[in-house]
Amino acid sequence: MEIRPITPHLGAEVYDVDLSSSVSDAEFAVLQQAFLDWSVLVFRGQDLDQCQHKSFASRFGELHTHPLHKERSIKDPFVLTVNTDADSNYTAGDGWHTDVTCDAFPPMGSMLYVTEVPEGGGGDTLFANMYLAYDLLSDTLKEMISGLIGIHDGGLSYVGAYKSTPPQGGYPRNEHPVVVTHPETGRKLLYVNAGFTTRIKGLHAEESRALLDFLFRHINSTPKLTARVQWQPGTLTFWDNRCTQHHAVWDYFPHSRYGERVSIVASERPSANPVTSLH
Ligand code: SIN
Repeated sequence: MEIRPITPHLGAEVYDVDLSSSVSDAEFAVLQQAFLDWSVLVFRGQDLDQCQHKSFASRFGELHTHPLHKERSIKDPFVLTVNTDADSNYTAGDGWHTDVTCDAFPPMGSMLYVTEVPEGGGGDTLFANMYLAYDLLSDTLKEMISGLIGIHDGGLSYVGAYKSTPPQGGYPRNEHPVVVTHPETGRKLLYVNAGFTTRIKGLHAEESRALLDFLFRHINSTPKLTARVQWQPGTLTFWDNRCTQHHAVWDYFPHSRYGERVSIVASERPSANPVTSLH
């Protein structure tokens, strides 16, 4: 297997592995380490059906059901279709976010398999490194935000941006620390995102808004945090949702793009001080 970094700190392309057949334990161990080292793994030239896609994802843990799926009767609760065409009112993930942080146990990772790319180009996905986003803050600000808790509300994206009708009782809403420690690498990272984080507990509304706006601006205006994935039909990208954000760029209207996403539930809640560190 060959692993080629995309930037010095985020993202790598992985060659010479076929995800449609069973990945050996030795190959899997290399992929697990590469996932922790690079946070975003890009596999080119894959030919997968939904069973093979889910089967590879389930090597990493239990599959996740998206809150939008819990309310709809759909064929497969584990496969989220990411489809944009000339009739779309929005494209999923068109803004910096971490997937489904409104859940108590957000996905540890997501695997998006794209089979149709826009005619004429575009439709790339940007990723950002939240370890580095934290590291670049001043020590004084790091100290100020340590111990703060963010409120993450599904309604912000699913009602606000996607205009979906909320289920009875609303979409999930949960609290997570603003600074968390990755449960496997033991590194600290910034854990607020513009897709879901609505408020910082214990601050006045204006203080909370100003702090969140500053942190969101830091994330969306610091190019060195990012890596860009250009899709081809048959590309599968697996991101560590515990330490990255991503932004799907909708620059290809009226053309179409199609992919399917399978996510894996984290086995622990985001925590400032996780109980276990496996590595
Ligand atoms: C998402 O999972 O947020 C969508 C990402 C993409 O379509 O590139």
